[in-house]
Formats: sequence, C-alpha cells, structure tokens
Amino acid sequence: MENSEKNVCRYRGHVSREDRERQNRHKAAVFWFTGLSGAGKSTIAHGVEKLLFDLGVKCVVFDGDNLRHGLCGDLGFSDEDRAENVRRIAEVAKLFVENSIVCLCAFISPSESVRARVKEIVGEYDFYEIYVKCPVGVCEERDTKGYYKKARAGIIKNYTGISAPYEEPRFPALKVETAGIEVNDSVLDVFSFIMSKVKRT
Ligand SMILES: Nc1ncnc2c1ncn2[C@@H]1O[C@H](COP(=O)(O)OP(=O)(O)O)[C@@H](O)[C@H]1O
Ligand SMILES: [Mg+2]
Repeated sequence: MENSEKNVCRYRGHVSREDRERQNRHKAAVFWFTGLSGAGKSTIAHGVEKLLFDLGVKCVVFDGDNLRHGLCGDLGFSDEDRAENVRRIAEVAKLFVENSIVCLCAFISPSESVRARVKEIVGEYDFYEIYVKCPVGVCEERDTKGYYKKARAGIIKNYTGISAPYEEPRFPALKVETAGIEVNDSVLDVFSFIMSKVKRT
C-alpha cells in the first residue's frame, strides 16, 4: 500500500541533518560489520566506539547479540526472520544517521541479498560494509559463546558457517582479517578507516 493511501505523511522539523553534523563537527554514516560468529565484529565495534567517543564523535553500536532481546526479541533464525531482523536494524540505523550519529552495526548478516537490502534502506552514500574476516576453524576454536560446539552437536540448527552458508562480501569498503592479529591492531585499522569517512573536510 502506498503511504498516500495509508494517510501517513511526514512532518519536517526545523533542524536538518546538516545542522546537526555541523554542530557535532563530524559527518554520520552506517558502518556495517559482517562476518562469522566469533570473527570479532563486537570486539572491534565496541573498541572503535570507545576511541570515537573519547574524541567526541557521537556514535552508537547496534549489536546483533543485544538487540535480539528487545526490538527483535520476537524473531528467530529462519531466513525470513534473519532478513526481518536486519531490516529493522537498518531502519533504526537510518534514523540515527539522519540525526547525525555514527552507527556501528555488528551483525553476521550472512547473505549478499540481506546486506544489499540494508544498503538500499540506509542509502548507498551513507553505507560502508566492513568485512571482519576469520576462517571458520579459528572462530570455532575461539567459540566465545559456546555456540559452535552446540551447532556441531546439532543442538543449534541453521548455524552460519556450520549448517548455514556465509556469503563473503565481494566488494566490502574495508576488509579486516583477525586471525593471528592483535585486537588493538584491528581496532586501530577500523578506527582510521571510519575517521577518514566521518571527518569534515
Ligand atoms: N584481531 C582481533 N580482532 C577482534 N577479535 C579478536 C582478534 N583476535 C582475537 N580476537 C578474539 O576473538 C573473539 C571475537 O569475538 P566477538 O567479538 O564476540 O565476535 P563476533 O561479534 O564477530 O561474534 C574475542 O574473544 C576476541 O578477543
Ligand atoms: Mg558479536
């Protein structure tokens, strides 16, 4: 149904995104971390957030693990539910970006089509895909949440990398490999990339 048929229309406020970006002294964008469970998305996103915060950059982390309790608490892990999970986050991130907040989104988001949908919702200009790359064997060894063990035992079904596919991004804006790399080095790599995109020129 078209919005005009639903009788919903937008109210335009007096403060533009540009006004907010000028006041914040930085631009906003969505940095979308994708990669296997245990690859390092949360670790890097939160590490970068702290560095950005300390510099006065307005930022927020949306982490798959946290949002499944509330906003997406009704969703499971079927293909449809994963797509809906990511769609909601993309819409929320878009709202934040329009309010000049840098968004760091950490979601496995295993399929090309789901990530393409995020890009479409957020808008190509504001969207940067960061591929946190790590071999599944290393992620499994880390097994930070014990989920790989459960997936191997068949207790968790449809587990990305074990019993469900992960499609590597073909053209990520940034790729960071985390196997055998110090956390701090990965955080600094991503931090520099993000700063280069959000600093005002
Ligand atoms: N270079 C690195 N970057 C990020 N995490 C790393 C790195 N090297 C080792 N790790 C470890 O890998 C694990 C990644 O876990 P996590 O960030 O929760 O992954 P994800 O959010 O992708 O599921 C952490 O225990 C972290 O300390
Ligand atoms: Mg995580």
